[in-house]
Amino acid sequence: IMKVKKICCIGAGYVGGPTCSVMACKCPDIQVTVVDLNKARINAWNSDQLPIYEPGLDEIVQKHRGKNLFFSTNIDDAIKSADLIFISVNTPTKTYGIGKGRAADLKYVESCARHIAAVSTGFKIVVEKSTVPVRAAASISSILSSNKQSSTSYQVLSNPEFLAEGTAVENLVNPDRVLIGGEKSPEGNAAVDALAEIYANWVDPEKIIKTNTWSSELSKLAANAFLAQRISSINSMSAICEATGADVGEVANAVGKDSRIGNKFLQASIGFGGSCFQKDVLNLVYLCEALNLPEVANYWQQVIEINNYQRRRFANHIVSSLYNTVYGKQITLLGFAFKKDTGDTRESSAIYVAKYLMDEGANLKIYDPKVPSKQIMVELEHPTISECPEKARELIDVCDDPYVACQGAHAIAVCTEWDMFKTLDFEKIFNSMLKPAFIFDGRGILPYEKLLDIGFEVLLMGKCPRETVLRKQYFPSCNFK
Ligand code: NAI
Repeated sequence: IMKVKKICCIGAGYVGGPTCSVMACKCPDIQVTVVDLNKARINAWNSDQLPIYEPGLDEIVQKHRGKNLFFSTNIDDAIKSADLIFISVNTPTKTYGIGKGRAADLKYVESCARHIAAVSTGFKIVVEKSTVPVRAAASISSILSSNKQSSTSYQVLSNPEFLAEGTAVENLVNPDRVLIGGEKSPEGNAAVDALAEIYANWVDPEKIIKTNTWSSELSKLAANAFLAQRISSINSMSAICEATGADVGEVANAVGKDSRIGNKFLQASIGFGGSCFQKDVLNLVYLCEALNLPEVANYWQQVIEINNYQRRRFANHIVSSLYNTVYGKQITLLGFAFKKDTGDTRESSAIYVAKYLMDEGANLKIYDPKVPSKQIMVELEHPTISECPEKARELIDVCDDPYVACQGAHAIAVCTEWDMFKTLDFEKIFNSMLKPAFIFDGRGILPYEKLLDIGFEVLLMGKCPRETVLRKQYFPSCNFK
């Protein structure tokens, strides 16, 4: 088995940074260098204020940085000296040309392959860690072999990352599985074994799965599509619950008790966000279309449609509950990150809820414990969200205290499931709000009965309101018991 002594990771983002930090921590004999074109990001990785928030990450970086973990903008040197190179760059949805709005944009991956080919000598293992369409490894191999110097040779592997933001360190330290795909040849197998050996420093060998390259690439898209589909499935049930008097919490509990189904990812909500689920499902849809499989493409497209529907439905609930107008009213959004324990706002459902409410003329106060106010404004001033940046600035006030954010509000909308929201002093909040005081719990995390006892009007996705103003609004003639 060839021994890897030096690793280079191109891309110091949410995947490259944590993955390599944990790798350096678990493999003290391997030197790991994470490189990026973005100087500010690298400077942040080398400072006390890391560019991303992940529980447990600061400690690991502090312990290993400067020893066997390095962050640098010197990409050439890191590639040259590495035995193994991870490509961990972004693969966003294309915003132009063929496949716009659906296909993955592979320009960053391609530019990495060209960069590697331009400066490499000797043998290198090149590993796709980014999420890519099936057969992307063939494109990388083609670029590498067409541009290589005579003394250079490569093996390209697929090793998709399954970490979830907010629990990245935990997922990396104790993964459900590590997936490595490679060419089925003696050289390919040797490269797969070399990468597997690195993981074997801390991962049970039974959890290290070796497959062919295309199975590995497709498994990542499939895993994210299945996860997103589960969220859309329970959210579609929440709409049926609201129309019939069933309670989606009770339905999820009953369904989840079936061991074939399991109880995770069955919380009705305002939908999934983040940089991956939507992008990867769209990527799968586009792939199916390109493969002339329209029925399969339509099937997965519905997962996205339901997610959009759920965000829209939540905003509609707010508007209709507030007597069909939110114009000039203050609505407080609690949470802006796409999930708890991260400061990442990419594709956060909160952005779309804010957009729909701004379209109706609502004034928004926004509080999130980890997202800086500048980041919130960048998202909401984007031309696809606001008519113009001035309009967004006029309607939005970002607060750094949840109680200040809720003061004088007509309604509160919980958009992120941060634990700290569960223990807020709701009596104090109630007393500072206009009446009736509405709470729209888009994540189903707040103490429902307690809020009702305090006097709030509380609405959850997929739950009929108890005898309150809201119930009369939604079910004027029904008597669900
Ligand atoms: P990111 O946007 O946070 O980081 C990517 C980094 O790559 C950026 O800092 C960018 O400056 C750098 N970069 C781009 N082109 C470069 C080049 N040619 N040379 C050097 N640096 C370059 O992206 P993130 O979230 O880390 O995702 C990376 C990949 O991992 C994507 O394919 C994503 O789908 C996948 N993934 C992401 C997960 C997540 O939770 N964020 C989880 C699992 C997979």
